[in-house]
Amino acid sequence: MRLALRWQVLLWSFLLGAGSAIAADKPIPSTQAVQLAQRPGHAGIASANTLATQAGFEVLAKGGNAFDAAVAVASTLSVVEPESSGIGGGFMATMYVAAGKRTVFVDARETAPAAVNSKDYLNPDGSPNRDTALKGPLSAGIPGEPAGLAWLAKHYGKLPLNVSLAPAIRIASDGFKPDGRLLGSIKEEQNNFARWPASAEKFLPGGKVPAAGEIWRDPGQAHTLELLAKYGEAGFYSGETAQKLVEAVRAAGGNWTLKDLASYRVKERAPLTVDYRGYQVITAPPPSSGGVAIAEILNILSGFDLAKLDEAHRDHLVIEAMRRAFRDHNDYLGDPDFVKVPLNMLLSPYYADGLRQTILPDKATPSSMLAPSNGQDPGMHTTHFSIIDADGNMVAMTCTVNYTLGSTFVAAGTGVLLNDEMDDFALVPNKPNVYGLLGSKANAPEPGKRMLSSMSPSIVIGADRTAVIGSPGGSTIITQVLEGILAVIDGGDAHQAVGKKRFHHQFMPDVVMVEPGAFDAATTNALTQMGHTFKQREPWGFMNVVIWDRRSNKLDAASDPRREDGLGKVQ
Ligand code: DON
Repeated sequence: MRLALRWQVLLWSFLLGAGSAIAADKPIPSTQAVQLAQRPGHAGIASANTLATQAGFEVLAKGGNAFDAAVAVASTLSVVEPESSGIGGGFMATMYVAAGKRTVFVDARETAPAAVNSKDYLNPDGSPNRDTALKGPLSAGIPGEPAGLAWLAKHYGKLPLNVSLAPAIRIASDGFKPDGRLLGSIKEEQNNFARWPASAEKFLPGGKVPAAGEIWRDPGQAHTLELLAKYGEAGFYSGETAQKLVEAVRAAGGNWTLKDLASYRVKERAPLTVDYRGYQVITAPPPSSGGVAIAEILNILSGFDLAKLDEAHRDHLVIEAMRRAFRDHNDYLGDPDFVKVPLNMLLSPYYADGLRQTILPDKATPSSMLAPSNGQDPGMHTTHFSIIDADGNMVAMTCTVNYTLGSTFVAAGTGVLLNDEMDDFALVPNKPNVYGLLGSKANAPEPGKRMLSSMSPSIVIGADRTAVIGSPGGSTIITQVLEGILAVIDGGDAHQAVGKKRFHHQFMPDVVMVEPGAFDAATTNALTQMGHTFKQREPWGFMNVVIWDRRSNKLDAASDPRREDGLGKVQ
């Protein structure tokens, strides 16, 4: 083994702990006598809302670490960005624990209630009932976020839960000025809020959409967060909150029971790891489909020398790899506690070799030649934030209530807006969900099962640079995170990774969705000649990235420039 290579392996082993499989195919230049930093000594946070990023720093200043900051950021987002995530929803987090030099995946995804019944999502004529799938209590899974936050505080944080939840409680009680995005979302959903008195009470105070610049308070959620802060997980999943949640859900035609809440469990899972061009990408395992798809795409791409190709041919190969990974999404993936997901096959380099052989260098493969799926507006909900603390702990966390403002159903007396995550199951076989994703039996709803997700919180570890990355975007989460990862591996900084123009292919519909400006005229022309068709689509984004350069020991944090409300900050 060449010296530089051996040296790099040693570094990897140090970062990831003994026994990690390392691909060291990117030798470090021999001039590299530079000392790589072992801890940043300062912190970076990038989230979709300025108040949330500030809440994270507030908790770090109290002696907290990245995991305490994650509790503060996520709970504050629950208050200030309810259109995207909240304590009525769930999250997935890929984390690096500096002290143990280990990675871990925390799955606080929602689960189906025991009384889940597929017929609830059908109209009397057997057609899909999109209203019960997306609005009201039947669309809501049992929330995972409160248990997940308590889990982080208990197992990884340095501060008690109540200290990390304090900023969110304060902002909910004292009030804040909602940003334009939240006000726009409330306006869009006002007719749905009007269907349920507690939803109207929270989101339409005085019967109206709050006016821009007006202070908006959320005393109901402040109280629920206080109970969580005081009693931990039990403060949400039993006692007063649980009682009120179940009563409200059942009174409005839902089927939750106290037992559903009491039996909710956070799951820790081994993250997926894929080696790509000398970097190790640590990402989400099932019940997310995101990491599997990203791994498949990177494995396919690793057999091509992309750097030698012009842009059109490079993009063509990326699109073809996306197409193939999304076909597998539809066929194989579901909750691994319920179905056997053939991970060995999907992640195998041999499998990627086989798929690579089916890609023609100059011609798009019609998806119909590969086999069946559909696609729609990815919406702009769900939220991702990234944190690196002074000790090098890292959190990539994606939180969601699914579609804009979730189910739009607030459980009376709790201030908790419930998710509409049940639509992430294949509720009706072979009918697309709101993101146009089809699913098979593997993702059929079952009591206690977790619905498949696209969330792809990831950590990208290179010889001297590490990035914490993720994004919302429904099914486009996967391809946006992939494109962010590729930008980082190509040497891009945090601003370049979040700002890079996006494109997306999800097998069906057989069309490349593009952000205006993603391809210049010559590239569009060349891709069209190869048989690709395009559909311009907006909106994209809300990626949040923090990068640690261990040569300069500098952190770099950036929030997606497509939105105004985010904040990436280092201090
Ligand atoms: O878990 C999932 O894949 C979806 N519930 C995420 C939804 C989402 O990203 C919405 N929009 N931007």
